Amino acid sequence: MPGSIGVKKINIAVFLSGTGSNFKNLIKHSKKKKSKFKISLAISDKSKARGLHYAYKYKINKKTVNYLNIKNSEKNILTELKKNKIDIICLAGFMKILSNNFIKKFKGKIINIHPSLLPKYKGLNTHQRAINNNEKFAGCTVHHVNSKLDSGKIILQKKVKILKTDTSSKLAKRVLKQEHILYPKALKKILSTL
Ligand code: GAR
Repeated sequence: MPGSIGVKKINIAVFLSGTGSNFKNLIKHSKKKKSKFKISLAISDKSKARGLHYAYKYKINKKTVNYLNIKNSEKNILTELKKNKIDIICLAGFMKILSNNFIKKFKGKIINIHPSLLPKYKGLNTHQRAINNNEKFAGCTVHHVNSKLDSGKIILQKKVKILKTDTSSKLAKRVLKQEHILYPKALKKILSTL
């Protein structure tokens, strides 16, 4: 296509620990014609994370770190990030907390998706806690990562109505659907500012 030759794509690393539906979804978006990013690396703390299957499938470099020692693990991750010339890190269901030191090294370039309407319900079991508190809405948030858990500047948020019949897993499914719309949108927003 004229005009697109030589346009350098932003290199993204996705960090995950589980199913990887957000990872898969970001890969799908990266393959769109007008996409400004490319996913070059997957990092996981779990060698058996189901989501790593997408790294095989789409021939994306992957690295598993055992996290027995945080310092060494993060050192290994930083080496991989450098090797793959990563510009931005997207946390997508990554269940480890990054150290301040690590975050400083990638300052302003780490984003996360969290299954609640932050600042409400930081941490785990977000949906059950929202249901227990009779909240009208649950939702998801994409935010910058800073040194405090789930507390960085919000990029985008999406509300999801909580139904009377909701269980935590029913609600999680509907929120996840919205996560798959929100994360690429938020990433696009960030990339437009680079
Ligand atoms: C997603 O719901 C994500 O928001 C959540 O884990 C799930 C991962 O799903 N992240 C957190 O709870 C982080 N604190 P996926 O592996 O199918 O993308």
